[in-house]
Amino acid sequence: MAGFHVPSGTITRGKSRASHSPIRLDFRRFGTAGGPHVTEHIKFTHALNRVADLHSLLLESKSELLMDKGVAMTGWKTESPFIAEGELDAILKHGRKLAKSIDDFVSVGIGGSYLGNRATLEAIHGPLELFNLLTVMERGHIPRQFFLGNHMSPGYTARVLQILSGRSVGVNVISKSGGTVEPAIAFAILKEALENSYPDAAARIVAVTDRSKGALKELADEKGYATYVVPDNVGGRFSVTSPVGLFGLAVAGVDIKEFIAGAKFAEEMTRERPAEKNIAMLRATMRYIAHVEMQKKIEVASTGIHGLKGVTMWMQQLGPESEGKNGQGLWVSPEFYTEMAHANGQMIQMGERNMIETFLMVEDTGMDVKISAKGTPVSYLDGKKLSSVNQAFIDGLRDAHYEGGVPTMSYILPRIDAFTLGQFYQLEMNTIALSGLLLGQNPFIQPGVQQYKDVANARSGKPGTETALADMMTAEKKLDPKFIV
Ligand code: PA5
Repeated sequence: MAGFHVPSGTITRGKSRASHSPIRLDFRRFGTAGGPHVTEHIKFTHALNRVADLHSLLLESKSELLMDKGVAMTGWKTESPFIAEGELDAILKHGRKLAKSIDDFVSVGIGGSYLGNRATLEAIHGPLELFNLLTVMERGHIPRQFFLGNHMSPGYTARVLQILSGRSVGVNVISKSGGTVEPAIAFAILKEALENSYPDAAARIVAVTDRSKGALKELADEKGYATYVVPDNVGGRFSVTSPVGLFGLAVAGVDIKEFIAGAKFAEEMTRERPAEKNIAMLRATMRYIAHVEMQKKIEVASTGIHGLKGVTMWMQQLGPESEGKNGQGLWVSPEFYTEMAHANGQMIQMGERNMIETFLMVEDTGMDVKISAKGTPVSYLDGKKLSSVNQAFIDGLRDAHYEGGVPTMSYILPRIDAFTLGQFYQLEMNTIALSGLLLGQNPFIQPGVQQYKDVANARSGKPGTETALADMMTAEKKLDPKFIV
């Protein structure tokens, strides 16, 4: 029986070669349609000048506002983009070696120890659920990719374990503190299975954690796992360009040298350009004015490119975890279009005018599909590329939202490759660090996340938390039962 057959010429590939073009920012629509642009706000110039000073503060790395436990958390800016070539070579070599010896690779981590890795992987290779369906040849001999430890959903965890059964598996466990419970549990389950399955279990495990302390570091030393260090001065959500991101990406065949070259390019651009042409400084200032002076509460982070969904989810962590303090901060809401145009797109268009929107646009989307539509309701699109119709719709959404009262700006990515992604992350990390500093906050601490970890640990019976648990139970008893029906 003849199978499904795609007519030749339907699937096409982008023509452009690898290039090192800069990302651009289009902020022509960051204001009110027919009214003032945000740069005309009376406080804009003053804020932009302050941002330039705050940038110097970041480079000096001495201010109390940058410290976490006495360490200035600016390594993502001052060191990661300038990592020695030799270190990258060593990570690449190790990653490739592990990739060759396994069928499936599981990355274990949560928050900053997860989101950037997954976002980059899916931007380059497409969504995991599709990538993992390809044959080993179609995947270019890259192992199938899985993520665990970023939640504790039992059904999902069980399904991944089922899918891994009978395969040759390698694991990368990532936790800076070494004590975060979600990845610790996922790793415990995988470790047990690996030790039951292979005599060389330890050789299949790579840990990325603190240089000298934490439960994961102790276990790695005891078992002899290969280990990479999360630098002291790099926090989770700023760690995608450190070994946190680099090892897994090397296993997944991502060109980490290009990735770091992109980050370096963006870092140099941020240091060299004057504030009025500086993407990170402009974006930080516009977000600040919109939030503090125009009472905007939400930044919608939108894209019409499926592979960039993960990048908008990375943005969802980076901004709110850095800025969400002292009753302030922009909530970041990832939107994938045009899917969500048929859902909360209504709210963006006509709901409360409390949002701004940042689009991730891509000039060369790479793979494309030719539409053959003769004799169908969309015959007027016959022969067109899906990318051009998609872009027309995204442009339409951008314009409609702007007309509807949402100040919008667009990152314009020349293409999706390792260089451009490295560039993007570096620009956005600078943007968010500066945004947080403008609000007078330390963007590198997350006391609220620690609070949640403490409560969850007590509730799940971690030794040493008995008193905290007893207090919680007493507080729970004081809740009025009449409010359960
Ligand atoms: O950005 C952060 O600091 C957090 O999101 C952490 O990355 C997350 O809580 C995981 O922490 P750890 O790497 O210590 O397990």
